[in-house]
Amino acid sequence: MQKIVIEGGKPLRGEVSVSGSKNAALPVMAACLLAEGECRISGAPRLTDIDTLGKVLTSLGAKVLREDGGDLVIAVEDESKSTAEYDLVRTMRGSICALGPMLAKRGYAKVSLPGGCVIGARPIDLHLKGLQALGAEIACEHGYVTAKAKRLRGARVYMGGSFGSSVLATANVLMAASLAEGQTVIEHAACEPEIEDLARFLIDMGASIEGAGSHRLLIRGVRRLDGAAHRVIPDRIEAATFLAAAAATRGKVTVRGTDAGHLAAVLDRFQEAGVKVAANGKAITAEGGDLCATDVTTLPYPGFPTDMQAQFMAMLSVARGTSTITEKIYPERFMHAAEMSRLGAKINVRGNVAVIEGVERLTGATVMASDLRASAALVIAGLVAEGRTDVRRIYHLDRGYEDLVGKLSALGANIRREED
Ligand code: EPZ
Repeated sequence: MQKIVIEGGKPLRGEVSVSGSKNAALPVMAACLLAEGECRISGAPRLTDIDTLGKVLTSLGAKVLREDGGDLVIAVEDESKSTAEYDLVRTMRGSICALGPMLAKRGYAKVSLPGGCVIGARPIDLHLKGLQALGAEIACEHGYVTAKAKRLRGARVYMGGSFGSSVLATANVLMAASLAEGQTVIEHAACEPEIEDLARFLIDMGASIEGAGSHRLLIRGVRRLDGAAHRVIPDRIEAATFLAAAAATRGKVTVRGTDAGHLAAVLDRFQEAGVKVAANGKAITAEGGDLCATDVTTLPYPGFPTDMQAQFMAMLSVARGTSTITEKIYPERFMHAAEMSRLGAKINVRGNVAVIEGVERLTGATVMASDLRASAALVIAGLVAEGRTDVRRIYHLDRGYEDLVGKLSALGANIRREED
């Protein structure tokens, strides 16, 4: 197992390019299960989560090839294998998005229930509700969900849950409805850029979809979808992570190959915290100076993303004044707070609100990553802290950041990977 070792206290400076989006690539890869013929996916990042979904698709009869140039070429060869096994699904919950496309294309799907997650309760009731509304027979037994339907039928589906819309539930129902008989209306759909990207791919395969990017999707089912080529959108969370690292270390960084339009709520909070932000087209520059406290509330898109909450906590831990972070998507998603306190941060968590009293300085220590975004936040805190910080259990990080150590080193960070 590896760890990351950081000698902190150096402002980050320079330019960095973001990779393709993990959370866009995953449903796009699953959508290949709907296709007749081959699909070509460009820009899918080299991450363990992408590899895991590749293994899941292979276990479901698809041929998945990563070409030297980086493209993923996916073609279904055998539709008789329709069970996504526990051992794969438990390592990557996103595998659940194979359920809708498999059911729609094959009339049958069996997927392991994802099980627990450190960031909080993550039920799949909305996924099942949506597929049942399209006429699927659903059963949950022995740790698996099975779904059956000769042919799905279009329907009106309300997808709002206790925490608002669901990204992957919307993806599952959108993919299933694309091959259903008749018209489907998804109300309170998720409108994340990753859903818009999935809809673009489905339309290129021959689907009829209107309203992608809004809370109301209109899908007219078709009989057949053909393989297509697609380039996934840039990773907005990776981009914002670099901007937070620049601000927290009082540096200046330009992130290239991103889309500022996907980050409006995040850029707004940066400005509220005194970070100088300049966005033009595919580049965003952040310059940290006199950071000041601000309040952040996580919400479904276009609100502030929960996947940036931990990184902002690291930045606000060295801002002047007292900030609050209210977590409205995963109320318990504060595993990183206690680890940051080991570096000298002053954070008090009460229910789904964290109160962060800014301190002058952090000091290096050994900390433990608990999940993907928490590990990115601990790396940021380590870059700020004086002295040495060891971030352990970084396998979490490799799930969602392509070559983070290499990219941060290029920005002047004193950072390396070591065997733990
Ligand atoms: C996606 O997960 C992302 N993952 C998550 O990113 C992200 O945190 C999340 O959306 C929210 O933005 C991928 O895209 C692979 P949800 P998803 O269904 O779709 C509740 C990362 O760090 N809910 O939108 O699984 C749920 O418990 C990961 O890259 C139900 O109640 O999230 C949560 O409170 C972590 N019933 C809220 O909705 C359901 O059936 C939003 O979850 C489904 C969800």
